Amino acid sequence: MRNPYLPIVAPIVEVREETFDTKTFTIAAPLNFEPGQFVELSVFGYGEAPISISGGDETGIQLTIRAVGGVTRKIHNMRPGEYVGVRGPFGKGWPVEKAKGKNLLIVAGGIGLAPLKPVIEYVIKHRGEFGFVTLLYGARKPSLMLYKDKFEEWGKYMEVLLTVDEPEPGWDGHVGVVTTLCDKIRHVADTITMMCGPPIMMKYTSMVLVELGFPPSEMYLSLERNMKCGIGICGHCAVGGVYVCRDGPVFSLNKAVRFLEKPHEVQGVLD
Ligand SMILES: Cc1cc2nc3c(=O)[nH]c(=O)nc-3n(C[C@H](O)[C@H](O)[C@H](O)COP(=O)(O)OP(=O)(O)OC[C@H]3O[C@@H](n4cnc5c(N)ncnc54)[C@H](O)[C@@H]3O)c2cc1C
Ligand code: FES
Repeated sequence: MRNPYLPIVAPIVEVREETFDTKTFTIAAPLNFEPGQFVELSVFGYGEAPISISGGDETGIQLTIRAVGGVTRKIHNMRPGEYVGVRGPFGKGWPVEKAKGKNLLIVAGGIGLAPLKPVIEYVIKHRGEFGFVTLLYGARKPSLMLYKDKFEEWGKYMEVLLTVDEPEPGWDGHVGVVTTLCDKIRHVADTITMMCGPPIMMKYTSMVLVELGFPPSEMYLSLERNMKCGIGICGHCAVGGVYVCRDGPVFSLNKAVRFLEKPHEVQGVLD
């Protein structure tokens, strides 16, 4: 087994601009990953950051990264041919096997679409193994949506419902937060939900979905916590008796509810 502390050193092979502060990097580190897993990305001299794997094949992985601090801003200034390190893949990803034979609801907010993109790509490759599939994706503005050039293709395989909080010129789609689209979801029974986005969006969307009849045990959320080792050793990501890096980052709503802000508000809906 590979030493989990030792990064694979590999070059960036492609950089693609998604939004003004988010880019997708293809890194020539072929990893056998499951949708929803993450890597610890090293930018040498700057540090490490956990980043979800947003795609990949036998030649490398893709990481979609928003520039917020030391590591992420530095990689935004890097070009193809420059080297980074990756450790992983780590964590427990989305319950793709459990979703087979069922309907699937994918709910994403902002950059939360990145860890869900491998699920979408898996579903497209194995379309016959899933029932009705819906993608519900919201962003603050149309210009902040990731993977815009893929929506048309994805729409051939699943229902794609998009929304923005604030329209911009040229947008003639739905306007409103993600919860305002929930009444358009056509299949509630026998559905597995996979959700990732800002904590406030996950909290309120969970509450609305539970009220619509989605069972909390069949709803899965990907959580973010400060991480260091990524493998359940250092304790940085410990919360409520679990290590988010090792036991997650994907948890069912029953388990995740106590990590959400003001959990009693969600608990009230679950009871
Ligand atoms: C499992 C997991 C998966 C993740 N996947 C992705 C991903 O696919 N793409 C991605 O871009 N990020 C992802 N993140 C978040 C990413 O790890 C952090 O943004 C990153 O660690 C920041 O590192 P930094 O050195 O650039 O910033 P730092 O220098 O550590 O932070 C700088 C400042 O930014 C703030 N900050 C840190 N993180 C965030 C954040 N997420 N949003 C807003 N402000 C923040 C800090 O509070 C601090 O003030 C993931 C996190 C986890 C735990
Ligand atoms: S990051 Fe070290 S225990 Fe999770």
